Amino acid sequence: MRDFISMKDFTKEDILEILRVAKELEEKNEVELLKNKIVGSLFFEPSTRTRLSFTSAAYRLGAKVLGFDSPDATSLKKGESLRDTIKMTEAYSDIIVMRHNRDGAARFAADIAKVPVINAGDGANEHPSQTLLDIYTIQKEFGEIENKKIAFIGDLKYGRTVHSLTKALQLFNCEFYFVAPKIIQIPKYITRELDEKGIKYHLIEDYKQILHEIDVMYMTRIQKERFDAQADYEKVAGVYVIDKDSVVGKCKEDMIILHPLPRVDEIKIDLDETKHAKYFVQAANGVPTRESIFAIALDKVKIESKGKIEKNIKTSDTVICGNEKCITKFEETENKYVVTGKHIYCYYCNKDIKK
Ligand code: CP
Repeated sequence: MRDFISMKDFTKEDILEILRVAKELEEKNEVELLKNKIVGSLFFEPSTRTRLSFTSAAYRLGAKVLGFDSPDATSLKKGESLRDTIKMTEAYSDIIVMRHNRDGAARFAADIAKVPVINAGDGANEHPSQTLLDIYTIQKEFGEIENKKIAFIGDLKYGRTVHSLTKALQLFNCEFYFVAPKIIQIPKYITRELDEKGIKYHLIEDYKQILHEIDVMYMTRIQKERFDAQADYEKVAGVYVIDKDSVVGKCKEDMIILHPLPRVDEIKIDLDETKHAKYFVQAANGVPTRESIFAIALDKVKIESKGKIEKNIKTSDTVICGNEKCITKFEETENKYVVTGKHIYCYYCNKDIKK
């Protein structure tokens, strides 16, 4: 394994191996594992947890970190392309961690770079390292991942953490409740895959009807910055707010509340000290999980990957991705798509393409 771009690229065995390595690294003090390695940390969008925990993971394993936390002070301001930015960073570092505002930017960067690329969030598409730490948290809290009932609540349309986690947890026989107003419900290209695989899921608007039966409540922020129209954001802002009164005593004793964070108003702070609140523990789990990602991507720890995901990738001048936020609209790309059964989807941003 080299790049960490999409949870679609991982088998169940891969995920379990990454978590096993994370646990080993959490228990050990491997200060020299990445000695003499340099991490290129490219954050085109704001971040607290992802950037700092990747940086912490790198330092803890003995690597050095260079990069930027905003594109404002880089040559992108002078019109440099992402392609050239990646070509320069690969000359200065051994691995690239990149967060970008365009869907599919991470896949594009991985195709260009000669060094491994880790997707730290690409637009509204995916956030695989977040998913790995989410699953690490579920495994630690319950002792296993299988057969959980999980409710995703909030911005499911633009929520890249939800998209990635859904792709991963379907490998563990989990059942999903997608709780959102219609205009920010989970995209069809994701439920289409669940349908094809026969995974159980429910689209609902009120979490109270299922609160008593879920194992994991995965809250998300309504992401103002991703809406095309401010009026649409205003229709759904503040739609779900949980507090101690609305949750405690009404859910399973061992139900856990996760949130990728940052939160705005959707979880009141009176929940923080309850046994259900695991979102800060979850964020802290980002360090060992990202240590594992570095160690595996840089081949410092070998994992036994039994499965291999084959994709039927094609290139075309006529099959065009319809997603206006896809990287294909902003950079010169090979215009690739993936054929799967009756459907085709964009190789970069994963959105279905109409034939
Ligand atoms: N969970 C997450 O991606 O947080 P940041 O945006 O702070 O990195």
